[in-house]
Amino acid sequence: MKAVPIIAIDGPSASGKGTVAERVAAKLGFHYLDSGAIYRAAALAALQAGLDLAGAAEPIAALAGAMPLRFAGGAVWLGDADVSRQIRSEECGTSASRIAALPAVRDALLERQRAFAAAPGLVADGRDMASVVFQSAALKVFLTAGVNERAWRRTAQLATIPLNDAKGLIEKEKDAKLAILFDSVLTDLQERDRRDAGRSAAPLKQVEGAKLLDTTQLSIDEAVARVLGWYREVSEAQAGAV
Ligand code: DC
Repeated sequence: MKAVPIIAIDGPSASGKGTVAERVAAKLGFHYLDSGAIYRAAALAALQAGLDLAGAAEPIAALAGAMPLRFAGGAVWLGDADVSRQIRSEECGTSASRIAALPAVRDALLERQRAFAAAPGLVADGRDMASVVFQSAALKVFLTAGVNERAWRRTAQLATIPLNDAKGLIEKEKDAKLAILFDSVLTDLQERDRRDAGRSAAPLKQVEGAKLLDTTQLSIDEAVARVLGWYREVSEAQAGAV
């Protein structure tokens, strides 16, 4: 049986990997897996169940493995509740990053993620797509951007203003509220980077063979084109080798 082609895109928070992965999937007609949403949903389920995230890992892992999670109609569902917006909160992101450091939680979520590999192909984004979940991915990309750039992007998103406006207002210290938001976003990102890359269970890293895509100076369209170009190259090389 022919293996399902997989593109694994890993990178730090707010690097834009989700947007790039989703667009690449749409261009190729592939399925898309936002693995961070699974960790975020598990964190939300644990918070809703009143579990202590700093306590024993087993109850959190059991809940993560059993949670009634579905992706349907462009939304993320926990049972009958559409939690798409809730899981995007900073609280859920930080809690997800905390429970993601627990090996038992990662194990409980492994098969759930692998089940997304289906014809005609899959684009999966996260932290350990290339290193653990889809080790045999046809293309592995490590997508990153400077931490200040990522903090600007996230601030602009939260304040719902264009990126260049946010940058200008923050750099020229014209908007005190925005500058405070930027500082807290930056601190949070640095903390999350440290936790996601510093943990011993499946830390965020660029694995051997993964292509580095630094989007600090790139638009989303340029980043998407780069990934599609690399995928074309590996597909052609594979076809030529058959
Ligand atoms: O990609 P994201 O920011 O939505 O992910 C939220 C958190 O989940 C992130 O801080 C670390 C964790 N995560 C992970 O450990 N492994 C993944 N494959 C995806 C996310």
